[in-house]
Amino acid sequence: MPKLGVNIDHVATLRQARRGTMPDLLAAAYLCEAAGADSIVAHLREDRRHIQDRDIEVLNKKLKTRLNLEMSIAPEIVNIACKIKPYQATFVPERRKELTTEGGLNVLANSKKIAAALGKLNQAGIRVSLFIDPDCKQIAASRYAGARIVELHTGRYANAKNYKQRKIFLNEIRAAVSYALTQGLKVFAGHGLDYSNVKLIAKIKGIEELNIGYSIICRALDIGLPNAVRQMRGLLR
Ligand code: PXP
Repeated sequence: MPKLGVNIDHVATLRQARRGTMPDLLAAAYLCEAAGADSIVAHLREDRRHIQDRDIEVLNKKLKTRLNLEMSIAPEIVNIACKIKPYQATFVPERRKELTTEGGLNVLANSKKIAAALGKLNQAGIRVSLFIDPDCKQIAASRYAGARIVELHTGRYANAKNYKQRKIFLNEIRAAVSYALTQGLKVFAGHGLDYSNVKLIAKIKGIEELNIGYSIICRALDIGLPNAVRQMRGLLR
């Protein structure tokens, strides 16, 4: 069964709607952990639209599991990560105008910059995962840049318009997992996964961890956060 990382960015989105203190991010993280989350994921965006610097400090100190900090390779953010030292960082591409992380990193085109940031974090004792599309060239480039872990972007599979497309994108992910394993990489996956599409991804042998946010936080409005996490874990099993 893959591990479950719960992304709590959208708990912070709600809090930032009023710039207040509700809902309490740490309390939400504790509920996720108690319900079986293996790690907590939070993205410190350059525009600070949801997670704030202080959130990262608090989560890193107080979590009972592990913090997976999603981040760009902007020098300011790299410095913050090196100071706070989360258990893991996941490098993601970041564009100001996007609603969410729309695609994987282009490691092929930016390998030097990515390798430099990765080296800095590794030196600070932080393990690093690269969020990439399920594409063999990007996997090979990730390994070349020094990555030991890749997280495959499942967005195209999740947003497929019909059964035929979904099958094509699922096979693309399966092939990417197999290739990454031959390269000696650990493989995680995530983005756009929900209660109806997660099972086929969870079944793929070799995926160690799934990182899921939006669908869990949405379902929490109906059945509460602990039940939403438990239900997702049930599907992974
Ligand atoms: N993994 C990564 C690297 C992401 O950037 C995100 C979105 O923040 C997720 C997983 C979770 O995606 P979603 O919120 O669509 O479940």
